[in-house]
Amino acid sequence: MVSLSNKRVLLGVTGGIAAYKSAELARRLRDAGAEVRVVMTRGAQEFITPLTMQAVSGHPVHLHLLDADAEAGMGHIKLARWADVVLIAPASANFLSRLAQGRAEDLLTTVCLAAAAPLAVAPAMNQQMWVNAATQANLVILRRRGVHVLGPAEGDQACGDFGPGRMLEPLELVAQTAQLFASGKLAGLNVMVTAGPTWEAIDPVRGITNRSSGRMGYAVAEAAAEAGAIVTLISGPTALPDPQRVETIRVISAQDMHDAVHARIDNIDIFIGVAAVADYRPAYVTAEKIKKSGEHMSLELVRNPDILASVAALTRRPFTVGFAAETNDLEANARQKLESKRLDLVAANRIGAPGIGFESHDNSLLVIDRTGSTDFPTQSKAKLARALIQLIAEKLHAAKQRSKTKSRA
Ligand code: CTP
Repeated sequence: MVSLSNKRVLLGVTGGIAAYKSAELARRLRDAGAEVRVVMTRGAQEFITPLTMQAVSGHPVHLHLLDADAEAGMGHIKLARWADVVLIAPASANFLSRLAQGRAEDLLTTVCLAAAAPLAVAPAMNQQMWVNAATQANLVILRRRGVHVLGPAEGDQACGDFGPGRMLEPLELVAQTAQLFASGKLAGLNVMVTAGPTWEAIDPVRGITNRSSGRMGYAVAEAAAEAGAIVTLISGPTALPDPQRVETIRVISAQDMHDAVHARIDNIDIFIGVAAVADYRPAYVTAEKIKKSGEHMSLELVRNPDILASVAALTRRPFTVGFAAETNDLEANARQKLESKRLDLVAANRIGAPGIGFESHDNSLLVIDRTGSTDFPTQSKAKLARALIQLIAEKLHAAKQRSKTKSRA
């Protein structure tokens, strides 16, 4: 049962057909134990009346910024301070744009600017408006600022279209709002994740890299943050936006990644190496673009440091998790990696199988430690990352328990 007991949710309703679901959402939030106050934009009032929202939230609805009576009661600053979370559902394309610009032209945008509480938006709009580059650019800005974007779902739309842009169902929104408060299994622990490929320069325009998209590593970083950890993500070059609630450090080469990891490793409790780090780099990087000459050309390569093994070799080492991408003999190869790099856990994935691996959204993992193995079948990288984080948390707590018992004996 999802709990929001004692939580104060400021529910913002903006203009869109999904606003009719906001009444149900307010009720569900209250069912979960939350106290709910509602702010409506002018557009929202075209779709649902303030009286309805007052009835379901149990409080008068806040409508105007420049209203002497309202300011004398719970004014916009008080309202912003009151909230433990601000949830805008539905969030129209226009509202997301105004939010991205940091406007303060009506009560809801002003409260969003004034609130220090987490801000979550549940977008709802026509699917073309959702995929429009302007909307997507606004979302990148909002995510970077730490705004939680909940949904949207994909499906039939009020306008007759089919696609992404449906507001998540009220119960799903309640669950995701509750998750923002979840203390989680890794509460208070420091987690570092490496992700993405590395780029090993040959000359100013060329380099050696690989097909890693970074998706799995980013999903692992997000799942760790969701579980309450303080997360640092060291990422090679990817096209992905920085994940929410995660400190992201962008690097280029394996050596950069190695240096960034070791500069911050001191307080880390769990290290998860998901990056597809280049094992070799060109021995020389020319300052100028190499011109073609003869029929053959050789590149001399030198070994890069093994970041994962170097972390596992530290005297005060974190719980160390590696990834292994294998085309064959998955378990045997992964087990060999566990031993040779002295890891606590290895997550092995099959590459080369259709629909899973490097560039896809799905993946499957076989997770191995010295006591056995756990098979996670093909599923979205986000789900898989959550399952992996749960397992890591359990293994870590079990290891801590063992060392406690040992030190008592
Ligand atoms: N890794 C690392 N630094 C490197 C190379 C790899 O941190 N220089 C990490 C990866 O992030 C991953 C694991 O080590 O967690 C992968 O091990 P690796 O030995 O690189 O696997 P493969 O490239 O598959 O090795 P091999 O080709 O030798 O099987």
